[in-house]
Amino acid sequence: MVWSLQSTEEFTESQFVQWSKLVEERTGIQLSVQKKALLQSQVSIRMREVGCTDYNQYFQRVTSGLAGLMEWSILVDRLTVKETSFFRHRPSVEYVRRTLQNRINNRQLDNSFDIWSVGCASGEEPYSLAMVVNDCFELAKLEPYYGITATDISSSALSKAREGYYPARRLSPLQPDEVQRYMIPDESGQYRVADKLRERVCFSQGNITQIRAMPVIKMDVIFCQNLLVYFRRWLRRDILNAFAERLKPGGVLMIGLGEAVDWEHPGLRRVVGDQVQAYVRDERQKQ
Ligand SMILES: C[S@@+](CC[C@H](N)C(=O)[O-])C[C@H]1O[C@@H](n2cnc3c(N)ncnc32)[C@H](O)[C@@H]1O
Repeated sequence: MVWSLQSTEEFTESQFVQWSKLVEERTGIQLSVQKKALLQSQVSIRMREVGCTDYNQYFQRVTSGLAGLMEWSILVDRLTVKETSFFRHRPSVEYVRRTLQNRINNRQLDNSFDIWSVGCASGEEPYSLAMVVNDCFELAKLEPYYGITATDISSSALSKAREGYYPARRLSPLQPDEVQRYMIPDESGQYRVADKLRERVCFSQGNITQIRAMPVIKMDVIFCQNLLVYFRRWLRRDILNAFAERLKPGGVLMIGLGEAVDWEHPGLRRVVGDQVQAYVRDERQKQ
Protein backbone atom coordinates (compact mmCIF):
# COMPACT_ATOMS: atom_id res chain seq x y z
CA MET A 1 0.00 0.00 0.00
CA VAL A 2 1.27 3.47 -0.87
CA TRP A 3 0.72 5.02 2.55
CA SER A 4 2.94 2.53 4.28
CA LEU A 5 5.89 3.88 2.31
CA GLN A 6 5.30 7.50 3.27
CA SER A 7 7.08 8.69 6.39
CA THR A 8 5.29 11.19 8.59
CA GLU A 9 7.21 14.33 9.58
CA GLU A 10 8.48 14.76 13.12
CA PHE A 11 6.29 16.66 15.56
CA THR A 12 7.30 20.31 15.89
CA GLU A 13 7.42 21.69 19.45
CA SER A 14 4.07 23.40 18.98
CA GLN A 15 2.48 20.24 17.58
CA PHE A 16 3.71 18.29 20.59
CA VAL A 17 2.21 20.94 22.89
CA GLN A 18 -1.07 20.88 20.97
CA TRP A 19 -1.37 17.07 21.06
CA SER A 20 -0.21 16.60 24.63
CA LYS A 21 -2.65 19.29 25.77
CA LEU A 22 -5.48 17.47 24.05
CA VAL A 23 -4.50 14.17 25.67
CA GLU A 24 -4.31 15.77 29.11
CA GLU A 25 -7.60 17.66 28.73
CA ARG A 26 -9.41 14.50 27.70
CA THR A 27 -7.78 11.82 29.85
CA GLY A 28 -5.88 13.58 32.64
CA ILE A 29 -2.69 11.87 31.45
CA GLN A 30 0.25 14.21 31.62
CA LEU A 31 2.83 13.61 28.89
CA SER A 32 6.32 14.89 29.57
CA VAL A 33 8.55 15.89 26.68
CA GLN A 34 10.29 12.50 27.06
CA LYS A 35 7.06 10.96 25.77
CA LYS A 36 7.19 13.02 22.57
CA ALA A 37 8.49 10.18 20.36
CA LEU A 38 5.91 7.78 21.74
CA LEU A 39 3.04 10.20 21.24
CA GLN A 40 4.20 11.03 17.75
CA SER A 41 4.60 7.41 16.72
CA GLN A 42 1.14 6.42 17.98
CA VAL A 43 -0.50 9.40 16.28
CA SER A 44 1.33 8.80 13.02
CA ILE A 45 0.55 5.07 12.98
CA ARG A 46 -3.12 5.92 13.29
CA MET A 47 -2.82 8.66 10.65
CA ARG A 48 -1.38 6.16 8.21
CA GLU A 49 -4.26 3.80 8.92
CA VAL A 50 -6.77 6.49 7.97
CA GLY A 51 -4.68 7.79 5.04
CA CYS A 52 -3.84 11.19 6.53
CA THR A 53 -0.33 12.68 6.22
CA ASP A 54 -0.72 16.05 7.94
CA TYR A 55 -0.75 16.35 11.74
CA ASN A 56 -2.78 19.55 11.72
CA GLN A 57 -5.37 18.11 9.40
CA TYR A 58 -5.63 15.00 11.59
CA PHE A 59 -5.91 17.18 14.71
CA GLN A 60 -8.88 18.99 13.12
CA ARG A 61 -10.42 15.65 12.30
CA VAL A 62 -10.03 14.27 15.84
CA THR A 63 -11.46 17.41 17.42
CA SER A 64 -14.48 17.94 15.14
CA GLY A 65 -17.97 16.55 15.50
CA LEU A 66 -19.21 13.05 16.13
CA ALA A 67 -16.77 11.46 13.68
CA GLY A 68 -13.97 13.13 15.66
CA LEU A 69 -15.22 11.55 18.88
CA MET A 70 -15.23 8.14 17.27
CA GLU A 71 -11.72 8.66 15.94
CA TRP A 72 -10.64 9.83 19.40
CA SER A 73 -11.96 6.66 21.00
CA ILE A 74 -9.66 4.65 18.74
CA LEU A 75 -6.68 6.91 19.31
CA VAL A 76 -7.05 6.91 23.09
CA ASP A 77 -6.70 3.12 23.06
CA ARG A 78 -3.27 3.58 21.54
CA LEU A 79 -2.14 6.28 23.93
CA THR A 80 -2.93 4.68 27.26
CA VAL A 81 -0.55 2.37 29.10
CA LYS A 82 -2.48 -0.79 29.83
CA GLU A 83 0.18 -2.77 31.64
CA THR A 84 -1.39 -5.01 34.28
CA SER A 85 -1.30 -8.51 35.73
CA PHE A 86 -3.21 -10.80 38.06
CA PHE A 87 -2.44 -9.87 41.68
CA ARG A 88 -0.17 -7.08 40.45
CA HIS A 89 0.26 -5.94 44.03
CA ARG A 90 -0.71 -8.99 46.08
CA PRO A 91 -0.58 -7.26 49.49
CA SER A 92 -3.31 -4.85 48.37
CA VAL A 93 -5.57 -7.63 47.13
CA GLU A 94 -4.90 -9.62 50.29
CA TYR A 95 -5.90 -6.55 52.33
CA VAL A 96 -9.29 -6.69 50.63
CA ARG A 97 -9.53 -10.37 51.57
CA ARG A 98 -8.82 -9.54 55.24
CA THR A 99 -11.35 -6.71 55.20
CA LEU A 100 -14.12 -8.99 53.98
CA GLN A 101 -13.02 -11.84 56.22
CA ASN A 102 -13.28 -9.57 59.27
CA ARG A 103 -16.72 -8.35 58.23
CA ILE A 104 -17.91 -11.93 57.85
CA ASN A 105 -16.35 -13.04 61.16
CA ASN A 106 -17.85 -10.06 63.00
CA ARG A 107 -21.23 -10.54 61.31
CA GLN A 108 -21.01 -7.06 59.85
CA LEU A 109 -22.00 -8.08 56.37
CA ASP A 110 -25.68 -7.42 55.99
CA ASN A 111 -25.60 -6.16 52.43
CA SER A 112 -23.89 -6.82 49.15
CA PHE A 113 -20.08 -6.33 49.27
CA ASP A 114 -19.42 -3.81 46.48
CA ILE A 115 -16.07 -3.11 44.88
CA TRP A 116 -15.05 -0.60 42.21
CA SER A 117 -11.89 -1.35 40.22
CA VAL A 118 -10.93 1.95 38.59
CA GLY A 119 -8.68 1.76 35.52
CA CYS A 120 -9.19 -2.00 35.28
CA ALA A 121 -7.33 -2.42 31.95
CA SER A 122 -7.79 -5.95 30.51
CA GLY A 123 -9.50 -7.29 33.63
CA GLU A 124 -6.78 -9.03 35.63
CA GLU A 125 -7.25 -6.65 38.57
CA PRO A 126 -11.04 -7.05 39.05
CA TYR A 127 -10.79 -10.81 38.47
CA SER A 128 -8.07 -11.07 41.14
CA LEU A 129 -10.39 -9.22 43.51
CA ALA A 130 -13.24 -11.54 42.55
CA MET A 131 -11.05 -14.55 43.42
CA VAL A 132 -10.31 -13.41 46.98
CA VAL A 133 -13.89 -12.29 47.58
CA ASN A 134 -15.27 -15.58 46.31
CA ASP A 135 -12.76 -17.44 48.54
CA CYS A 136 -14.13 -15.62 51.60
CA PHE A 137 -17.75 -16.46 50.83
CA GLU A 138 -16.89 -20.10 50.10
CA LEU A 139 -14.83 -20.45 53.26
CA ALA A 140 -17.71 -19.10 55.33
CA LYS A 141 -20.18 -21.31 53.40
CA LEU A 142 -22.20 -18.23 52.49
CA GLU A 143 -23.97 -17.44 49.25
CA PRO A 144 -21.66 -15.10 47.34
CA TYR A 145 -23.29 -11.70 47.70
CA TYR A 146 -20.98 -9.24 46.00
CA GLY A 147 -20.52 -7.18 42.87
CA ILE A 148 -17.49 -5.67 41.19
CA THR A 149 -17.80 -2.65 38.94
CA ALA A 150 -14.76 -2.30 36.71
CA THR A 151 -14.22 0.81 34.62
CA ASP A 152 -11.63 2.01 32.14
CA ILE A 153 -11.36 4.67 29.46
CA SER A 154 -10.16 2.18 26.83
CA SER A 155 -12.84 0.28 24.96
CA SER A 156 -10.38 -2.27 23.52
CA ALA A 157 -9.10 -3.10 27.03
CA LEU A 158 -12.68 -3.50 28.23
CA SER A 159 -13.54 -5.87 25.36
CA LYS A 160 -10.64 -8.12 26.33
CA ALA A 161 -11.63 -7.91 29.98
CA ARG A 162 -15.23 -8.90 29.25
CA GLU A 163 -14.08 -11.92 27.26
CA GLY A 164 -11.92 -13.03 30.18
CA TYR A 165 -9.48 -15.15 28.12
CA TYR A 166 -5.78 -15.12 29.04
CA PRO A 167 -2.77 -17.00 27.66
CA ALA A 168 -1.05 -19.41 30.07
CA ARG A 169 1.94 -17.07 30.57
CA ARG A 170 -0.35 -14.42 32.12
CA LEU A 171 -1.27 -16.85 34.89
CA SER A 172 2.18 -16.99 36.51
CA PRO A 173 1.29 -14.68 39.46
CA LEU A 174 -1.55 -17.01 40.44
CA GLN A 175 -1.17 -19.76 43.02
CA PRO A 176 -1.75 -23.29 41.64
CA ASP A 177 -5.03 -23.59 43.54
CA GLU A 178 -6.24 -20.24 42.16
CA VAL A 179 -5.56 -21.50 38.63
CA GLN A 180 -7.25 -24.76 39.38
CA ARG A 181 -10.38 -23.23 40.87
CA TYR A 182 -10.83 -20.11 38.81
CA MET A 183 -9.17 -20.49 35.40
CA ILE A 184 -10.67 -22.91 32.90
CA PRO A 185 -8.35 -24.19 30.15
CA ASP A 186 -9.76 -24.29 26.64
CA GLU A 187 -8.70 -26.19 23.53
CA SER A 188 -6.73 -23.21 22.13
CA GLY A 189 -4.32 -23.31 25.08
CA GLN A 190 -5.84 -20.21 26.68
CA TYR A 191 -7.58 -19.99 30.03
CA ARG A 192 -10.91 -18.39 30.71
CA VAL A 193 -11.99 -16.90 34.02
CA ALA A 194 -14.66 -19.12 35.60
CA ASP A 195 -18.26 -18.06 34.90
CA LYS A 196 -19.00 -17.65 38.60
CA LEU A 197 -16.43 -14.84 38.75
CA ARG A 198 -17.17 -13.29 35.36
CA GLU A 199 -20.84 -12.95 36.16
CA ARG A 200 -19.98 -10.86 39.23
CA VAL A 201 -17.90 -8.30 37.34
CA CYS A 202 -19.61 -5.56 35.38
CA PHE A 203 -17.29 -3.74 32.98
CA SER A 204 -18.12 -0.30 31.70
CA GLN A 205 -16.39 2.58 30.03
CA GLY A 206 -15.70 5.57 32.23
CA ASN A 207 -13.27 8.45 32.25
CA ILE A 208 -12.24 8.96 35.86
CA THR A 209 -11.49 12.66 35.28
CA GLN A 210 -15.29 13.00 34.87
CA ILE A 211 -15.98 11.37 38.25
CA ARG A 212 -18.02 14.35 39.45
CA ALA A 213 -20.50 13.66 36.65
CA MET A 214 -20.80 9.95 37.53
CA PRO A 215 -23.66 8.69 39.70
CA VAL A 216 -22.72 8.39 43.37
CA ILE A 217 -22.84 4.70 44.25
CA LYS A 218 -21.43 3.82 47.65
CA MET A 219 -18.73 1.17 47.70
CA ASP A 220 -17.12 -1.12 50.28
CA VAL A 221 -13.84 -0.99 48.40
CA ILE A 222 -12.51 1.42 45.80
CA PHE A 223 -9.39 -0.03 44.24
CA CYS A 224 -7.43 2.35 42.03
CA GLN A 225 -3.83 1.49 41.29
CA ASN A 226 -1.31 2.61 38.67
CA LEU A 227 -3.61 5.24 37.22
CA LEU A 228 -3.45 8.34 39.43
CA VAL A 229 0.29 8.33 38.92
CA TYR A 230 -0.24 9.69 35.38
CA PHE A 231 -2.22 12.70 36.63
CA ARG A 232 -1.22 16.09 38.00
CA ARG A 233 -1.28 16.46 41.78
CA TRP A 234 -4.40 18.66 41.91
CA LEU A 235 -6.33 16.19 39.76
CA ARG A 236 -5.26 13.23 41.90
CA ARG A 237 -6.47 15.03 45.00
CA ASP A 238 -9.76 15.96 43.39
CA ILE A 239 -10.39 12.35 42.33
CA LEU A 240 -9.32 11.01 45.76
CA ASN A 241 -11.77 13.40 47.45
CA ALA A 242 -14.52 12.16 45.15
CA PHE A 243 -13.59 8.54 45.98
CA ALA A 244 -13.88 9.37 49.69
CA GLU A 245 -17.47 10.53 49.12
CA ARG A 246 -18.25 7.23 47.42
CA LEU A 247 -17.24 4.93 50.29
CA LYS A 248 -19.75 3.30 52.62
CA PRO A 249 -19.00 3.78 56.32
CA GLY A 250 -16.08 1.46 57.07
CA GLY A 251 -15.31 1.31 53.32
CA VAL A 252 -11.72 1.07 52.09
CA LEU A 253 -9.90 3.12 49.49
CA MET A 254 -6.90 1.30 48.10
CA ILE A 255 -4.37 3.08 45.92
CA GLY A 256 -0.87 2.21 44.73
CA LEU A 257 2.06 2.75 47.09
CA GLY A 258 3.26 6.34 46.86
CA GLU A 259 0.49 7.45 44.50
CA ALA A 260 -0.69 10.20 46.85
CA VAL A 261 2.06 11.30 49.16
CA ASP A 262 0.48 14.05 51.24
CA TRP A 263 -3.24 13.56 50.69
CA GLU A 264 -5.53 13.41 53.71
CA HIS A 265 -9.28 13.45 54.15
CA PRO A 266 -11.20 14.36 57.32
CA GLY A 267 -13.52 11.35 56.95
CA LEU A 268 -10.79 8.77 56.34
CA ARG A 269 -7.93 7.34 58.34
CA ARG A 270 -4.79 5.98 56.76
CA VAL A 271 -4.07 2.33 57.48
CA VAL A 272 -0.83 1.94 59.39
CA GLY A 273 1.89 -0.07 57.66
CA ASP A 274 4.09 0.22 54.63
CA GLN A 275 2.83 -2.77 52.65
CA VAL A 276 -0.29 -1.08 51.33
CA GLN A 277 -1.64 2.42 50.86
CA ALA A 278 -5.17 2.14 52.18
CA TYR A 279 -7.65 4.51 53.81
CA VAL A 280 -10.70 3.52 55.82
CA ARG A 281 -13.83 5.63 56.06
CA ASP A 282 -15.09 6.46 59.52
CA GLU A 283 -17.76 3.92 60.59
CA ARG A 284 -19.91 6.58 62.22
CA GLN A 285 -20.33 8.73 59.14
CA LYS A 286 -23.80 8.77 57.70
CA GLN A 287 -24.26 7.32 54.19
C1 LIG B 1 -1.32 1.03 33.87
S1 LIG B 1 -2.97 0.51 33.71
C2 LIG B 1 -3.30 -0.06 35.34
C3 LIG B 1 -4.22 -1.25 35.35
C4 LIG B 1 -4.52 -1.81 36.75
N1 LIG B 1 -5.20 -0.86 37.56
C5 LIG B 1 -3.27 -2.29 37.42
O1 LIG B 1 -2.82 -1.66 38.39
O2 LIG B 1 -2.70 -3.29 37.00
C6 LIG B 1 -3.85 2.07 33.64
C7 LIG B 1 -5.25 1.93 33.07
O3 LIG B 1 -5.93 3.17 33.28
C8 LIG B 1 -6.68 3.47 32.12
N2 LIG B 1 -6.91 4.93 32.07
C9 LIG B 1 -6.07 5.90 31.66
N3 LIG B 1 -6.65 7.10 31.77
C10 LIG B 1 -7.89 6.88 32.27
C11 LIG B 1 -8.98 7.73 32.62
N4 LIG B 1 -8.90 9.05 32.48
N5 LIG B 1 -10.11 7.17 33.11
C12 LIG B 1 -10.19 5.81 33.26
N6 LIG B 1 -9.21 4.97 32.95
C13 LIG B 1 -8.07 5.49 32.47
C14 LIG B 1 -5.85 2.93 30.96
O4 LIG B 1 -6.65 2.69 29.82
C15 LIG B 1 -5.26 1.67 31.57
O5 LIG B 1 -6.06 0.55 31.30
